[in-house]
Amino acid sequence: VTYWVVIPAAGIGSRMRADRPKQYLPLGDRALIEHTLDCFLDRPGLKGLVVCLSAVDRWWDDLACASDTRIQHVVGGRDRADSVLAGLLALLQQGADREDWVLVHDAARPNLSATDLHNLLNTLADDPVGGLLAVPVRDTLKCAGPDGRVASTPDRSLFWQAYTPQMFRLGALHDALFRALAAGVSITDEASAMEHAGQAPRLVEGRSDNIKVTRPEDLEWLARLRG
Ligand code: CTP
Ligand code: MG
Repeated sequence: VTYWVVIPAAGIGSRMRADRPKQYLPLGDRALIEHTLDCFLDRPGLKGLVVCLSAVDRWWDDLACASDTRIQHVVGGRDRADSVLAGLLALLQQGADREDWVLVHDAARPNLSATDLHNLLNTLADDPVGGLLAVPVRDTLKCAGPDGRVASTPDRSLFWQAYTPQMFRLGALHDALFRALAAGVSITDEASAMEHAGQAPRLVEGRSDNIKVTRPEDLEWLARLRG
């Protein structure tokens, strides 16, 4: 399977409360986003990689990977979906085929395993829609009422956590995101845009340690994991 990769990296990481966006915080000897990019670089089938950066980004240019000719960057947008759309549009404008696969992966997920990437690509290679890495929820879920008390307990077996990469056809994903955003629908991942377009993305079970670094303890946990 051949595919493009789009990495949204234009967020500010407010929940991390650090001195810079979380994708630029150190993990071992390098920035978090460099580990994320390494999950894709040098893999068979990769056609190219687009990183979506904030218009006021001050950190990317200082990274070694900024001069890597395999990586191009575009200016992202206000929300994650706007950033992803900018990346997809850049690929289409460069003449990428609408039928090509594109994998969208959060810059803040540096621990994607080669096995998960391989499974995703293999499982979806012939899929008419595409899909995403996801993990069945492990804890019992609670629906909160307005008073901060439990309103109900849904059937846990139906629920999955949506991870990335999410893999769809470039043209279909671009159109779905564009229309969902134009319609004012809240879009927090690529699959939800495809769902809004009437498609049912496939869930591909992945490892639970492909976490999105969101809070300080997530980065501490990953640092320990890497020794
Ligand atoms: N992202 C983006 N453009 C935005 C917002 C987010 O490209 N306008 C990216 C982030 O850089 C991150 C990924 O989308 O790699 C997942 O978003 P999230 O974890 O919410 O990151 P932030 O928005 O940066 O963090 P926070 O919500 O805590 O501010
Ligand atoms: Mg965010």
